[in-house]
Amino acid sequence: MTENTPWSRFGGDIGPWWSHALFYQVYPRSFYDSNGDGLGDLDGVIAKLDYLEALGVDAIWLNPVMVSPMADNGYDVADPRDVDPMFGGIGALDRLTEAAHAAGIKVTMDLVPNHTSSAHPWFQAALAASPGSDQRERYIFRDGTGPGGLHPPNNWVSIFGGPAWTRVVEADGNPGQWYLHLFDAEQPDLNWDNPEVFDDLEKTLRFWLERGIDGFRIDVAHGMAKPPGLPDMEHIKAEVLLADMDDDPRFNNDGVHDIHRQIRGVFDDYDNAVAIGEVWVYDNEQFSQYVRADELHLAFNFRLLRAEFDATDIRHAIENSLAAAHLVDATPSWTLANHDVDREPTRYGGGAVGLDRAKAMTLAMLALPGAVFIYNGEELGLPNVDLPDEALRDPVWERSGHTRRGRDASRVPVPWEGDAPPFGFSDSSDTWLPLPEDWATLTVEKQDGDPASTLTFYRRAIELRRDRAEFDGPTIEWLDSPADTLAFRNSGGLVCVLNTGADAIALPDDEVLLSSAELVGGKLPPNAAAWLV
Ligand code: NOJ
Repeated sequence: MTENTPWSRFGGDIGPWWSHALFYQVYPRSFYDSNGDGLGDLDGVIAKLDYLEALGVDAIWLNPVMVSPMADNGYDVADPRDVDPMFGGIGALDRLTEAAHAAGIKVTMDLVPNHTSSAHPWFQAALAASPGSDQRERYIFRDGTGPGGLHPPNNWVSIFGGPAWTRVVEADGNPGQWYLHLFDAEQPDLNWDNPEVFDDLEKTLRFWLERGIDGFRIDVAHGMAKPPGLPDMEHIKAEVLLADMDDDPRFNNDGVHDIHRQIRGVFDDYDNAVAIGEVWVYDNEQFSQYVRADELHLAFNFRLLRAEFDATDIRHAIENSLAAAHLVDATPSWTLANHDVDREPTRYGGGAVGLDRAKAMTLAMLALPGAVFIYNGEELGLPNVDLPDEALRDPVWERSGHTRRGRDASRVPVPWEGDAPPFGFSDSSDTWLPLPEDWATLTVEKQDGDPASTLTFYRRAIELRRDRAEFDGPTIEWLDSPADTLAFRNSGGLVCVLNTGADAIALPDDEVLLSSAELVGGKLPPNAAAWLV
């Protein structure tokens, strides 16, 4: 087993590189289109590496770029050991890895172990084979219930809407078994009780790690193990990713930890590679199990992302996220946004107030110990976009019978320059999702160099977090502060004050390093945060 090389800052070892890293999530199809087909690609990421370097990111996380029919924007993988031509093929990924490393930026990828695409050769073979065959054993096929197996094997629902089971037609032309898919019907769940499934994942991990990839964000990391007998759900809960899944037979089953131990065994053969789990589990003790020393290095704790803009709620989220990590001496990780949730300015109320709050939350997040993740466009203050029905691409829209609009609103391409859509994102005006006219003021070009812009604020905040030792403490201490505010000191020395109330508040006597809004008569206005040393 190889130990992670400690990352040295300010003359002291503070742990492996990822333990204090700022990860930047690139949603490749929405970042930058280098070949004019209306879809972002990996050469587009290379073209914008200077931008990422100037922003000060330590690592990028690429959403899935493996070969895929794109039923769920790449989370339906047909060949896990190749890159889709849409993104430029494997050559483009190699070029990106090399260029990013030369710029001092690590590259992490998405890994999708819970399911494959229905176009994966394994699933095609399973469809062609008969019930009980080895080919079917790689997935979760079951006979139906009721007369002639007419009803699904249990009452599970898909996260995207509708039943979690689809019935297949057997070789004799008759309706036959059902297969499980927690997401789209084109994303059949793998059977992790079958050792072939891990063997193949191990091949995939080694394939990319040997090519120089620095780690993986592991999709649905709380989902691979299914409970014996596949018992019914007692309560059919809201079919959304943010649903509280602590008590749901589809997720967080004990067997998942053996799977993570197996996966970790592979990572441990590679110096410095990081495994980051997508874990929608809220109970601290249960969450902590995923980041035990022999499982994942990091796991997204989504409590902060779920918190309202309310000091009590935010403090509760921070305290619990820290407590969960500390239970097993793991590194905390923080995020406010990703491609599955509403963008923060919209979530926090929209308009100027929503943006002010988003910036304030950014200061709170960046002051905390551990790793942080920001989502492309967050640094520009992008809000959700109201897309017309005909523009929607997320499978959630169809599967929910047009009752849920899905996640496209937060996946709209990044506006780079110019005065009209697609704002330099692509040479084509036919982009995969349309950019709104009113983003003319939000482009990188408009914000670059403007001292009052959101981008300038992010660059400064990230630079301070990178350069100053006051951010490096492993713990925080809560400080007394008025109602509707919170204040904490990072044990490195940084003080962060956040005002979620209606009145401006006095700040401690220290030097103000940065504030998310201009101070008014020396006071911190509502919807703002400040850093002091
Ligand atoms: C979580 C991913 O973040 C989401 O975008 C995807 O749809 C599901 N997992 C299924 O892979």
